[in-house]
Amino acid sequence: MNTSKPWALITGASGGIGLELTRLEAADGYNLLLVARDGAGLSKVAADLAAHDRQIDVLAVDLGLPGAAAKVAAWVGERPVELLINNAGFATHGAVAEMDQAELASEIGVNVTTLTELSRLMLPGM
Ligand SMILES: NC(=O)c1ccc[n+]([C@@H]2O[C@H](COP(=O)([O-])OP(=O)(O)OC[C@H]3O[C@@H](n4cnc5c(N)ncnc54)[C@H](OP(=O)(O)O)[C@@H]3O)[C@@H](O)[C@H]2O)c1
Repeated sequence: MNTSKPWALITGASGGIGLELTRLEAADGYNLLLVARDGAGLSKVAADLAAHDRQIDVLAVDLGLPGAAAKVAAWVGERPVELLINNAGFATHGAVAEMDQAELASEIGVNVTTLTELSRLMLPGM
């Protein structure tokens, strides 16, 4: 375990582009803070990337819910985050008037609100 390395915080690290970015940041030598809803998937990513000189912590959280950014920031705590990758997100298609309200709220929550709040919370310490 090496706690003196800088940390990268990556949202949506359980799959897709976020997983590829996670692999790249591991190769760049970062300790990793990985966030997504799929805790089991994140744990598998952490196990796959485990190395004696790398620390990896995971947090399963729905970033579409109010308060998610504060929850992530509290979990990060005093760890020195050098790199924030606000990757988590999704897109829906169709007429707004016909969209499911809960889906719409989640989409705005993940893609806009939490992304913005997390940036506001993390950037002053970076
Ligand atoms: N692929 C493209 O062509 C493309 C184009 C433009 C923009 N983008 C954007 O690039 C980012 C990654 O795209 P991708 O293709 O890699 O998408 P993806 O394969 O669907 O992966 C999305 C990631 O975000 C996480 N995520 C989604 N909703 C979440 C929530 N409510 N709370 C926490 N984590 C959540 C997912 O993890 P869990 O399901 O485990 O929560 C997953 O790790 C997204 O923001 C997407 O909008 C992608």
